[in-house]
Amino acid sequence: MTINHQEIELIDSFEQIAVEIHPTAKEGSKAVAAEIAALIRQKQTAGEPCVLGLATGSTPKYLYAELVRLHKEEGLSFKNVVTFNLDEYYPIEPDALQSYNRFMKEQLFNHIDIPESQYHIPDGTLPKEKMKAYCEEYERKIEAAGGLDVQIPGIGNNGHIGFNEPGSSINSHTRLITLDNSTRLANAYDFPNMSQVPRLAITMGISTILKAKKVILLAWGSHKAKIVRRSVEGHSSDQVPASLLQQHPNTKFVIDEQAAHDLTRNKEPWLTGDCEWTPALIRKAVTGLALKLNKAILMLTDKDYNENGLNDW
Ligand code: F6R
Repeated sequence: MTINHQEIELIDSFEQIAVEIHPTAKEGSKAVAAEIAALIRQKQTAGEPCVLGLATGSTPKYLYAELVRLHKEEGLSFKNVVTFNLDEYYPIEPDALQSYNRFMKEQLFNHIDIPESQYHIPDGTLPKEKMKAYCEEYERKIEAAGGLDVQIPGIGNNGHIGFNEPGSSINSHTRLITLDNSTRLANAYDFPNMSQVPRLAITMGISTILKAKKVILLAWGSHKAKIVRRSVEGHSSDQVPASLLQQHPNTKFVIDEQAAHDLTRNKEPWLTGDCEWTPALIRKAVTGLALKLNKAILMLTDKDYNENGLNDW
């Protein structure tokens, strides 16, 4: 039998990050919105600002819709909230259809009572020679605001958080980066054609994200299942930037059932050491093993079962 080393690494470690699974993206988003609202209110009572790190893309849309609802229907005020967005394309005008500046206004800021001076989104219009100083200033502003209380990233199919593509150093700061082609392809739906997807972006660094007091990563849908498993159960490595969150003491992934599909606790629960063998689970384990080894069920041997964690009586 060929030994797949990557698989062994994955199943050796299991979940290295707390994972909260909700039936749907909407329910998960509501739970996170409630958590953020509680923090905003707690900070209001203490007379302190609440500093949030925010993402764009399809993932946080329900979250922002729920925060807007909480503002309009339940009186949640954002007057003490200060926000810093993770990233922005470069170059891009703030009112371009695909700009993250525009996205944030349309999805959130235009509908709540946050003062304009309190939200920050990287500026995609500056000349390149000003970018280094601008990025350093972005970091200083986060620190001057007291640091991020909560950072809420999404995750790219290649494991990027913010636009920290695979290979981004754990020590990286806010900077101008080159987007992976896979990221440009994934985001091309927003542009008239692939050639118009910017090749560069400004992003907070991994170290900027890891400095947040708390990180809540969101992931919805079956297309995120593989990368969620690699990030949560695989080795912490800059080749899967989200797996670097394993190094953060207060991180959780809030995901829906589809994105949780590949976690060992769902896919091969017998490997976690604690499972109730129902007839359905036995069928799943045996057919799964036959598919994995490319063998007919009746050809599976005791050795096959033993080598794949299926030797319980
Ligand atoms: C966007 C960002 C990106 C996205 C990621 C997932 O601000 O930081 O890392 O979170 O590309 O994108 P969606 O949510 O569209 O699947």
